[in-house]
Amino acid sequence: MTTAPTTQPQDAMRLRELVFGAACAAAVRATARLGVADALDDTPLSAEDLAAAVKTDARALRRLLRALTCYGVFSEEPDGRFAHTDMSRQLREDDPRSLRWIALWCTEPWTWAAWPKLDEAVRTGDSVFEGLFGKEFFPYLHEDAQESAHVFNRAMTTSSVQSARDVAELLDLTGASSVADIGGGQGHVLASLLEKHPGMRGTLLDLPGVVERADPRLRDGGALAGRVDVVPGDCREAVPVEADVYVIKNILEWDDESTRRTLGNVIAAARPGARVVVIENLVDDSPSMRFTTAMDLMLLLNVGGAKHTRASMESRMREAGLVLGEVRPVNAYLHAFESVVPG
Ligand SMILES: C[S@@+](CC[C@H](N)C(=O)[O-])C[C@H]1O[C@@H](n2cnc3c(N)ncnc32)[C@H](O)[C@@H]1O
Repeated sequence: MTTAPTTQPQDAMRLRELVFGAACAAAVRATARLGVADALDDTPLSAEDLAAAVKTDARALRRLLRALTCYGVFSEEPDGRFAHTDMSRQLREDDPRSLRWIALWCTEPWTWAAWPKLDEAVRTGDSVFEGLFGKEFFPYLHEDAQESAHVFNRAMTTSSVQSARDVAELLDLTGASSVADIGGGQGHVLASLLEKHPGMRGTLLDLPGVVERADPRLRDGGALAGRVDVVPGDCREAVPVEADVYVIKNILEWDDESTRRTLGNVIAAARPGARVVVIENLVDDSPSMRFTTAMDLMLLLNVGGAKHTRASMESRMREAGLVLGEVRPVNAYLHAFESVVPG
């Protein structure tokens, strides 16, 4: 037997809006692909002028912009022209806080194939990627979806560059003379740390295809090259690096076995007393829960991975044998877990 309806009209409308979330994501993606935000500067423009600039149909572009203004992405002036808002500016390629590549990455074609399978992933607790594309996510990306791989690299660079400053600001490396970034991508965090600490040496370890495109500051001829070792490798197999401080940022989101092996390899390589700083987005205790929980579900779909809770991260580190220290926020969406390799 059902009870009498008590739903408030605004709740029903909110739910209607939620189920159209894909339309919102698609509108942001279309805008980023068309370069609409780049075509608009400080002077508001009519849909016709914008359409001429980005070579689209004017009426359809007006409809796209009108949909986005409902979310605060662009605003419509009383005379019908469109102006930037703080959010729409961040879709510009040249904005220092640009999220254009991240917007594209979060809405890449494979995501539209994978989201409808979320019920299946929740039923099995596992990735749906192989079932859809015939191979695991990263091999698919690099072998079959080169354009997506390029978007991924640009998005990771954006995200690393933006968080590298915050990490360098937070980490007190007094007393340390070497730092290793494990799974450090193209080395933006490492470069920021080395620039801040001119006496320090650094090592970047990541997969071969990634470190070969390392930040130019770290490569031969780069300003920091004399203080850097670039090590291509698989941290699940070995971490052949001795350092005073190990940074492991945004990689322990895969399966638990990979996390166990990576932390075990760091501990095997490190001197007793070495610092291990794990930096992650958390699905609890975070000011950006809608963002981190969405990323968590995307990780379930593509690699069968998960973002951590504070407790799950601490227990993975403790199980690996690390002695835990403080947990501190790095910024609005990242936390740093301090630990030490026992004697
Ligand atoms: C989400 S990115 C984070 C990159 C960087 N730590 C940062 O926060 O900017 C994950 C990184 O892990 C690297 N990675 C994945 N599997 C790896 C492995 N088996 N060994 C070493 N690095 C790996 C990827 O190439 C990628 O650079």
